Formats: sequence, C-alpha cells, structure tokens
Amino acid sequence: MNVYDGERMAELMTAQGMTAAADADSADLVVLNTCHIREKATEKVYSDIGRLRKGARLKDRAAPMIAVAGCVAQAEGEEIVHRAKVDVVVGPQAYHNLPDLVREAAARGSALDTDMPAIAKFGALPARRKTGPSAFLTVQEGCDKFCTYCVVPYTRGAEVSRPFAAIVDEAKALVDAGAREITLLGQNVNAWDDEAGTGLHGLIAALDRIKGLARIRYTTSHPNDMREGLIRAHAEVEKLMPFLHLPVQAGNDRVLKAMNRSHDRDSYLRLLDRVRAARPDIALSGDFIVGFPGETDAEFEDTLSLVDAVGYAQCFSFKYSPRPGTPAADMAGQVPADVMDERLQRLQSALNRDQAAFNAATLGRTCSVLIERQGKLPGQMLGKSPWLQSVHLMTDARIGDLVEVEIVRADPNSLAGVERVKAAA
Ligand code: 5AD
Ligand code: SF4
Repeated sequence: MNVYDGERMAELMTAQGMTAAADADSADLVVLNTCHIREKATEKVYSDIGRLRKGARLKDRAAPMIAVAGCVAQAEGEEIVHRAKVDVVVGPQAYHNLPDLVREAAARGSALDTDMPAIAKFGALPARRKTGPSAFLTVQEGCDKFCTYCVVPYTRGAEVSRPFAAIVDEAKALVDAGAREITLLGQNVNAWDDEAGTGLHGLIAALDRIKGLARIRYTTSHPNDMREGLIRAHAEVEKLMPFLHLPVQAGNDRVLKAMNRSHDRDSYLRLLDRVRAARPDIALSGDFIVGFPGETDAEFEDTLSLVDAVGYAQCFSFKYSPRPGTPAADMAGQVPADVMDERLQRLQSALNRDQAAFNAATLGRTCSVLIERQGKLPGQMLGKSPWLQSVHLMTDARIGDLVEVEIVRADPNSLAGVERVKAAA
C-alpha cells in the first residue's frame, strides 16, 4: 500500500512541474513514506532523516526539504516536527495536499496535515499515466477490526471503500498505460463493498471484462470478510490468480481471542478447505506474530502445527512489537526477547521448508509468466508465475509479455523456466 501511495505522491508532484531526482542525495525535496506497524519501521524514519542531512553536509550542499508522510506522520504528528525538525508532516489520508504543504513550509518553516477526511484524497489525485506491467490499485482503506496489537485502525482510520466507478476508471487508465496485471489493495481488501452490495467478487467481475488486463490479484484479506462469492470467483474467473494472502497470526485459540481476531483456528482451517475446494492449486499465504503477550511454549506449538496443517506457499512472520496506545502493549506477560527470537527462528524454518516444497511441486509444470524486468544475464528476463513465484528465463519476450514457461528448476526463493512456444490454434 505504501508503494501505491508513493507512486501517487510522485505523480502529484510531477504534475506540479517537479521531476524525480536520481537519488535522495541529489534531491531538493525528499518524501519519506513511513510505516508504523512495528517499532523497527518507525525508528527507521529518524535514522533516515539523520542520514539525509549528513549526506548533504558531506557534499557541502543545502539539506533537502524533508516531508514525512504515511502512518508515522499520522501517529506522531507534531512530535516529528519537534524531534526531527522536518518541513512537512502529512498523514496517509491527506497526501493529496502535499504540494500545498510544501509551499506552505517553504513560506512559513513547517506545515502539517493529519486530517482524515473519508476518501477525499483519491478524487484530488491526477489520472494514472505511467505504470509497469504489474500495477497496484487501492480500493479500500482502513480497518474496523481492532486486533489488540495493531495500530492500523488508529493510523489509517475506519474501513472505507472507494466507489466502484472510480476504481474501474483507474483500472482502465492503468491498462491503457500498459498494465497487464492489477493487484487490488486494501488493509481489508475483501471487505470492499458498495451500496448495491457488489462485494469484492463483483468488482473483480467488472475488472475481468477489461480488455488487455490479463491478471487480477488482491491483498490483504481478513478471514471474516471471505464471502462465498469471492471464494467462487477463484473457481470461475480465469484472470483471478490462484493466490490468497489470508493472515491468521497464531494457531492457538486463547491467543487468537486475546488478539481479538474474531476467528478461531478451526474456522480458519475450514475456510481454507472451502477455498481449496474452489481452486485446488491455490497458493496460500499469511502473516504470523510470535511472542504475543502471554503466549506460552505450548500455545506457540499450536502455531507450528497450524503451519504444518496448511502447507503455505509463502508467509510473513514477525516478533510481536508493542505499539503505544494499543491494548496489547499494556497486557501482562510480555514475552522476553530471546524467547521471541527462538520462536521466530523455528517458525521461519518451518515456513521456509514449506515454501521450498511448494516451489518444488511446480517443477515440470507449464504456466504463464508475466515478464516484469530484465535479469542480470544478457537475454535473461524475470517475471511472476500465477502463484506469485519469481521466475527467470532466457527469452526474446519483452517487459509486459505473457509467456508460456516450463519450470525446469525450483529453488527456495525462485524458479528457472524455459519458454514453450504455444501450438498454433
Ligand atoms: N507487532 C508485530 N507484528 C504486527 N503486525 C501488526 N501489528 C504488529 C505488531 N504490533 C503484523 C501482522 C499483520 C502484518 C501487516 O503486520 O501480522 O498482519
Ligand atoms: Fe491490524 Fe489487520 Fe487486525 Fe486490522 S485486521 S487491526 S489491519 S492486523
């Protein structure tokens, strides 16, 4: 989502007559688009600001204007202006005002906007004109779920869906600009809806009709918003890629309850059964947190056994990070760092094992690959399989082409393929 927001801010500033600098060290204005989800991501902002200023000093040039955007800006607001003396602070719902804020800061020293108007931003952004073959499109923002560890409901606000027509228009503009694949984005993307009750599957059906668009993906989904229509879409819509990112966070019911996840281990597993019945080859993905307050060794074992039961294609896993203002930050039983380290290591080795197995299972299969960029070797191109694996191959195909590829080697993090010429129809 921050990649999408970053692209939109770049488009906005370009429309003002600015041009993109080759790197941060030669820029007059640097926008740091920030993440607040874990403490490490937040601290990075302050070290980046220090590094930018030091870089300017070493080169004997004036320090750039610095704008802090994103969820750290939203959460810390005025505090960043004081702590780091930055020029602009702009929250994720207000970045359409970035040009005005930069002008205001140039005139008055600093400017701040952390308002959260419902979805006003999108209408104020310029039309999409530039894209790679694989594009992001935000359709939904915010979260009402209030998992007890998570800052998102506070930084991104309540769940809001963008209007159907605006999304379809943006998708068409992206396809006209060269996108072959669109990934629909939202903190709870499968909660997307409109007054007619269209649901995400209805939106996917509309995108399915766009000529020139070959692939549709969506992320991130919440188990409780996985409606029957969306599951059916995985069986029926050819352009919808066989991949589902459906975070579970933990495998133990007491922990899930303390996290306020509103699903349990069993309901999650049953949901995956239904998804797999609709699309047997679907690649499953998820997020995990280890060391949630009070998590015992035995409860952590339940996470490992859930991983064994599912067989994920690829996952993200994190050590619990207490976030100021969230209920879990004040819970008893904070887990010591060394215990978290060990649990994360065990979990990641299980996830790596399953990812390698998933990749190995594609060996010998022929599938489509969307070419996204050049590889390191001459004549080598890189792309993605339907299951979101990175594939490299030697081919004359160009960026944006879809090629039929036989997978001839499977490594833990990528696949090697050989192009197969389709028999003439
Ligand atoms: N600590 C660690 N991980 C977190 N996530 C969200 N909040 C926290 C936190 N406080 C993880 C969840 C979520 C992903 C985007 O980040 O796994 O799904
Ligand atoms: Fe955070 Fe996701 Fe839970 Fe929302 S559903 S509170 S974004 S972890």
